Amino acid sequence: MKIFGVCGSPRKNGNAQWAMEQALQAFEAQGCQTAKLLLSQADIKLCDGSLPAELAANPIKDDMRQVEQAMIEADILVFATPTYFDMVTPQMKNFIDRTDPFYKSLKGKKALILVVGQADEDSRMGTVNYLKQYCTIAGIAVEGALTFQATHKGDLALQPEAAEKIAQQVRAVIRANKP
Ligand SMILES: Cc1cc2nc3c(=O)[nH]c(=O)nc-3n(C[C@H](O)[C@H](O)[C@H](O)COP(=O)(O)O)c2cc1C
Repeated sequence: MKIFGVCGSPRKNGNAQWAMEQALQAFEAQGCQTAKLLLSQADIKLCDGSLPAELAANPIKDDMRQVEQAMIEADILVFATPTYFDMVTPQMKNFIDRTDPFYKSLKGKKALILVVGQADEDSRMGTVNYLKQYCTIAGIAVEGALTFQATHKGDLALQPEAAEKIAQQVRAVIRANKP
């Protein structure tokens, strides 16, 4: 199976990236092929309000074309993001907006959601629910959603149970999707 992970943190090597990389490693341990996109590093320009037909005629020149290909080829998508004011980061929201021309091609895929935040679970659930809503719109089945309390870079990696929780969730997703 092919897995594509996207991390919405604007900072490199933060908690959401760590969570996503744990998940990708766990998928690899089960024989899956993985690819990832760090929105902190990628060239993903802002949605300029163009509608799909306009974008087909005049595409925005950035990394989104390669990303589209990778997402369409993937069986399972991993969405990992920090919570910003109970929502995804602006980088993740923009990324989602940029899938507008091809989100219908994601129908039937599966998703795993990973959310980090410094406040309580309620705050992180706002973010989870937004991502679930996107998946509903796109016809993507959410197979798992985990949230973690973490503030500073490196916090989550220090939580002894976090890696195992993610690996367990990945194994459950694999079991549910065995051909
Ligand atoms: C602008 C901003 C808004 C934030 N809002 C929230 C919030 O509403 N709830 C929360 O739990 N954490 C909030 N946080 C904290 C981050 O979610 C937290 O530090 C997280 O671990 C950062 O993830 P990263 O290391 O992957 O960048 C906010 C951080 C920033 C910079």
